[in-house]
Amino acid sequence: MWRVLLFLGLLLGIWLRWRYKNRRLLKMAKKIPGPPTIPLFGNALKLMCQPEEFVKIIKNLMIEYGGVFKLWIGPDLNIVVSHPDDIKLLLTNNKTSIKGPQYKYMADLLGEGILSGSGILWRKHRKIATPNYGKRAIVSYTDVFNQEVDLLLGIFKSLPKGQETDVYKYIVKCTSYTVCQTLMGLSKEETMELPHLQYLIDMSPKLYDIVFDRMTKWYLQIDPVFWLTDSYTQQKQFKEKLREFSSTVIKHRLKVLSNSGDILYLMNSDEDSSKNTRLSVIDRFILSDEFDSKDLIDETFTIFTSSQEASAKIASFFLMMMAFHPACQEKLYTEIINVTGKDDKPVTDDDLKKMPYLEMAFKEVLRLFPVGGMLQRTINEDISISSYTIPAGSALVIPVYHIQRDPKLWSDPESFEPERFTPKNTKKRPPYCYIPFSLGNMDCLGRYFGAKLIKTIVIRVLRKFKLNSLDNFKNLRTIIAISTTSLDGYKVVLGSREE
Ligand code: HEM
Repeated sequence: MWRVLLFLGLLLGIWLRWRYKNRRLLKMAKKIPGPPTIPLFGNALKLMCQPEEFVKIIKNLMIEYGGVFKLWIGPDLNIVVSHPDDIKLLLTNNKTSIKGPQYKYMADLLGEGILSGSGILWRKHRKIATPNYGKRAIVSYTDVFNQEVDLLLGIFKSLPKGQETDVYKYIVKCTSYTVCQTLMGLSKEETMELPHLQYLIDMSPKLYDIVFDRMTKWYLQIDPVFWLTDSYTQQKQFKEKLREFSSTVIKHRLKVLSNSGDILYLMNSDEDSSKNTRLSVIDRFILSDEFDSKDLIDETFTIFTSSQEASAKIASFFLMMMAFHPACQEKLYTEIINVTGKDDKPVTDDDLKKMPYLEMAFKEVLRLFPVGGMLQRTINEDISISSYTIPAGSALVIPVYHIQRDPKLWSDPESFEPERFTPKNTKKRPPYCYIPFSLGNMDCLGRYFGAKLIKTIVIRVLRKFKLNSLDNFKNLRTIIAISTTSLDGYKVVLGSREE
């Protein structure tokens, strides 16, 4: 009995000490509304639920407490801000250019790379990589994009007719092979021989589930507890394979660089920006001399994983939305045929510029299914927003998924309506209620790459196949597992346009 009392006394002592040390944070937090808490846990137990329930809880809290409210996850104070006027101020502010504490669990998997890191290293790495993601660079990726989509169409044609197919697993292979041959600079042969490529593609969603589990379940954040789980073993195995994969990519590029003096001079030269894709992102990392071998391995995998899964998910959601909405599909099909004709041929940047309905439908897919469903940043210094001051030492949470479905901002928000994005309708909304690529200096580096690849896939699939669904859009169940994910897969029926 006395041991229990001693333990409880110890806990109480730690708790009181923590309260004393954080009295300023606690005082400022008091002014911000939020649901009732229980000692030590805060609101953590309420959020420990199934992912579907989690989406509903955040939605209800937004209804109850409005555009700014607080959530205590144990000792961590999270300020959830959904008011569009505050969002620009916050995401473009230097005081928020540190990723949130929950990104630590992503960093455990990916290292402190561009996606999960912050600070001087992140800034340097992002600057080095940037030329390969720009609009000019993307033009030079056209052939690879189309060649990989040729193969995707071949697979779709070979599938039994009239059968429901989960398109994601085919599309993610297409986007992964594309990234290897563009941003990473590999040949097709080198890509096909990369160790564990298919394993990494197949396991990535599972690994992101593990990361998200740790982000939302407080007990998994205690390292010794996590080490006892199967998830830890899986993560460890994944990291070993990831290391072998990335080392092979680096070896290939080192070999090329050692034999091609003619491209080495490009790095940081005036000519660089116009011929930028002769150097891959990996080449830039190697030549910059900024990376030790661990950083290089981490960033190589980050380049791969930040791009292939996001593009594949959005392309799959897009095709599924077309299957659910035949009238939209026919409208888009007509636009495609008017611009490119019926024959299957490569999609060019010029084609894309002539397709406004495609752009609107793409935006609507990103509204409903944002890749960054919830963003988090660390608050270093107090920041005043319209109604409160967010205290230093807390974390800012931007619930993008919920903002982009907020009925105060969007009429009939759960329905799929590309026309919301006509220039006239767009003007009627506050600009920052739509932030699918985030904002500020930590925004998405791959937005042009992703948009072009996804549109190339959609155009070429729709030109060849008429898509149907055996289900109804209203039954689609989505969750936020870092990115927005469909719980039941990405199923469509691929019917031929030629029949
Ligand atoms: C339509 C598809 C995509 C969407 C909607 C999207 C969205 C986002 C969002 C919202 C973030 C911010 C995440 C955060 O702050 O936590 C982000 C970051 C990032 N994205 Fe994307 N992404 C897409 C595709 C891609 C692609 C294809 C690439 C690479 C080619 C890419 C590379 C990155 C990188 C490197 C970051 C980290 C940026 C930083 O922190 O400095 N993304 N993306």
